[in-house]
Amino acid sequence: MDNVQIFKMTLSDLEEIKDILFSDFNDFWNINVFKNELLNPNSQYIVAKINNKVVGYAGLWKAVDDMHITNIVTAKNFRRQNIGSILLSKLIEIAMADKDIDSITLEVNSNNVAAQKLYEKFNFKIVGLRKKYYNNVDDAIIMTLNMRDISQSIKNQIINI
Ligand SMILES: CC(C)(COP(=O)(O)OP(=O)(O)OC[C@H]1O[C@@H](n2cnc3c(N)ncnc32)[C@H](O)[C@@H]1OP(=O)(O)O)[C@@H](O)C(=O)NCCC(=O)NCCS
Repeated sequence: MDNVQIFKMTLSDLEEIKDILFSDFNDFWNINVFKNELLNPNSQYIVAKINNKVVGYAGLWKAVDDMHITNIVTAKNFRRQNIGSILLSKLIEIAMADKDIDSITLEVNSNNVAAQKLYEKFNFKIVGLRKKYYNNVDDAIIMTLNMRDISQSIKNQIINI
């Protein structure tokens, strides 16, 4: 999909999607949590837009030498069209540009195969498991990408997206 554009996410982007976070994006984030995240100086959020309409978003939280992916979501009607990959590439690019960062880490629900496949595509490796992390029921898989392990093929993939 070649008409996807990535921007820094703003409060007006959030305003645009605040009422459809659950219905169109399956996101469980509370609007106030999201707003605080956008205003947090340690966070960086990006949006993917097609024809000026938000079709996805993703965020990072910087913790000393690690970037934590807090969220990455594509609108339901736009999934499997490479938008998640474009968002993740951009997050990796942001982390690569920060000399303090050694790794990128995230938690993903053990039932969330789509997201795990997306991360595997970018060479993230499973490094741990948090039992009953989600609602005291589902396990979280912890996945990490070490910056030194970013292969040339991943770099090429990022540049070509
Ligand atoms: C995970 C998510 C962001 C992927 O977004 P997307 O725009 O569909 O991703 P892409 O089209 O770039 O797909 C990238 C790869 O992920 C994998 N993938 C994506 N959806 C998949 C699915 N339903 N089943 C299996 N693999 C899937 C594939 O390997 C795919 O590569 P391919 O199309 O070359 O086979 C999207 O499914 C989503 O928003 N889910 C709900 C929110 C969420 O769970 N976020 C992750 C929180 S940790």
